[in-house]
Amino acid sequence: MTSRVAIITPDAAFEERLRTSVSSLPSSAVRRWKDEYLRIDPSKVVAEMADEGVGVVCLGPGLPVDTMLELAAAFDRDHPEQCVLMLAEPTVDLWRQAAPAGVRDVVSPQADLVELSRAVARAVETAERRRANVIGDADPRRPASRVVTVLSPKGGSGKTTLATNLSVGLAGAMPGKVAVVDLDVHFGDVAAALQLSPSHTIRDLAIAGAVDTTMAKVFLSSHASGLYVLCAPESPAEGDEVTYEHAAQAVGLLAQEFPVVVVDTAAGLDERTLAAIEVSTDLVLVATTDVSSVRSLRKLVEALDGLSMTAQQRHFVLNRADARVGLETPDIETAVGMKTALSLPSSRAVPLSMNVGTPVIISEPRSPVARQLQRLVEQFTAQSPDSHLVPSGPSAPRRRWR
Ligand SMILES: Nc1ncnc2c1ncn2[C@@H]1O[C@H](COP(=O)(O)OP(=O)(O)OP(=O)(O)O)[C@@H](O)[C@H]1O
Ligand SMILES: [Mg+2]
Repeated sequence: MTSRVAIITPDAAFEERLRTSVSSLPSSAVRRWKDEYLRIDPSKVVAEMADEGVGVVCLGPGLPVDTMLELAAAFDRDHPEQCVLMLAEPTVDLWRQAAPAGVRDVVSPQADLVELSRAVARAVETAERRRANVIGDADPRRPASRVVTVLSPKGGSGKTTLATNLSVGLAGAMPGKVAVVDLDVHFGDVAAALQLSPSHTIRDLAIAGAVDTTMAKVFLSSHASGLYVLCAPESPAEGDEVTYEHAAQAVGLLAQEFPVVVVDTAAGLDERTLAAIEVSTDLVLVATTDVSSVRSLRKLVEALDGLSMTAQQRHFVLNRADARVGLETPDIETAVGMKTALSLPSSRAVPLSMNVGTPVIISEPRSPVARQLQRLVEQFTAQSPDSHLVPSGPSAPRRRWR
């Protein structure tokens, strides 16, 4: 089902521009403005939109900011599966108010048609994912998959170490059912860490255009463990060609085909990482024990909260946890606001394993670091009522968006 897009604005000229930008999308046409929207209870506007199958609501321009925020909060409260776009100048101050009201994006009304249609397309995609999560309106043929995104605000903190060992460990438990995507499109080294020489990369998938799940498999490399790998492009220039939409498409396609998809990311929250987070069920958040890493992770967690990216289960991994730099684990947990799911010790075996392209979980399975990594694998494979990883078990209840 494709979401309808509603526009709530008294600005007829803008409405016409938005109609033009939406016309390139599979979504149906926008609605007209009614003056009474300014007067009636926001919940009534929300109910009216829901009755009409609206998935995306564009608020403004030409409305008082307070009215837009009230309406956005009402949509967020009454129909969290609907996605709200605000058409206003995206100042820091406005974002501060818009994010807690559940607004998905703030876009300048002066944005060109390409930018507008991109923003609406993203909102439509988000609305459809939310609808699937909240109402269970998913393709019934599609198996519930688990998408695990590994992220950290800092480079070199151990994301690739975790993503490769976790995915290889999971593939060992479920051969052929796990894929890993390298979304570090400029400098990704998942291929090197797994000693693969890919024939195709995510950039080839990106430029291939419309691809279905069967075709997407052509772009994957296979690893001896039974893992499938969508590798990063060969050069940063090629990486530039991979956009938010491509990342969302790649992870989404693989999630339709594989019960588990692990995503490695570049440091920080770039647009591709945000695309992966939006379709993730789980986030593995990595920090090392130094103050700068811990502080940055705290900021990243706050940013995720601010963007209402709170539906994913968060797993905090402390890497090189035995480094003696003055911060103890309980202090770190307090600072980050999360309990550690796992502490990984420092070990020479890790860089050695990366250098030879065999994850430490395979090359040194009895080492303390590999045992800890195996524990992480088991946290994901553990049979629990809401585990997605039990291939023949009962299907998990769908998680509510928020
Ligand atoms: N527990 C550990 N003990 C020893 N070395 C480690 C450990 N974890 C990671 N390393 C080493 O630290 C370096 C960075 O690790 P890794 O590549 O996994 O980080 P990253 O977060 O993916 O970095 P980037 O942001 O550059 O992609 C690598 O050389 C890796 O071998
Ligand atoms: Mg990396």
